[in-house]
Amino acid sequence: MILDILYATQTGNAEEVAQNLNALAKSQGFITTINEMNFHNMSSFRVLKNVAIVTSTYGEGEVPEMGIEFWNELKATNIKMPKLSYGLIALGDKSHEIFCGAGKMIAKKLEELNCNKIIESLECDGDTRGTKEWSIKFLENLKSKNKDD
Ligand SMILES: Cc1cc2nc3c(=O)[nH]c(=O)nc-3n(C[C@H](O)[C@H](O)[C@H](O)COP(=O)(O)O)c2cc1C
Repeated sequence: MILDILYATQTGNAEEVAQNLNALAKSQGFITTINEMNFHNMSSFRVLKNVAIVTSTYGEGEVPEMGIEFWNELKATNIKMPKLSYGLIALGDKSHEIFCGAGKMIAKKLEELNCNKIIESLECDGDTRGTKEWSIKFLENLKSKNKDD
């Protein structure tokens, strides 16, 4: 099964979480790609089947620089993507006014595009606690979804 991991980070936390998910997925036999979010445009993104998104938030509730072009394209599209299954981890800090703003905006847009959310999004406050447990559950859900297909 193929899993495509997209991340956007400013200081490395989201990348580390994405790399850990990548290693776990590979150890379970997934074929993976892992890229900065801006690696994808809508033509490449819309054809993906199984996607994990890991993003932190910068500025005032904004997507980190390495995800901004992707986010701008995603925001502008109306193409429905019901065949795209995804899970999302948002890193942030509650000391900021717009907690996990980037993750929340992306998650909302993916729902509007009828993407298939296979696990509740995880929002981390000031650390990356819970990401390992989330990753285990996410991969389990992906496997059972694909069994049902
Ligand atoms: C300048 C700056 C702005 C930030 N803005 C927000 C914000 O608006 N909302 C939020 O929830 N977290 C915000 N954060 C917290 C980061 O998202 C959080 O520390 C995250 O773990 C960083 O992950 P990264 O290393 O992947 O970039 C901000 C952090 C910094 C340094």
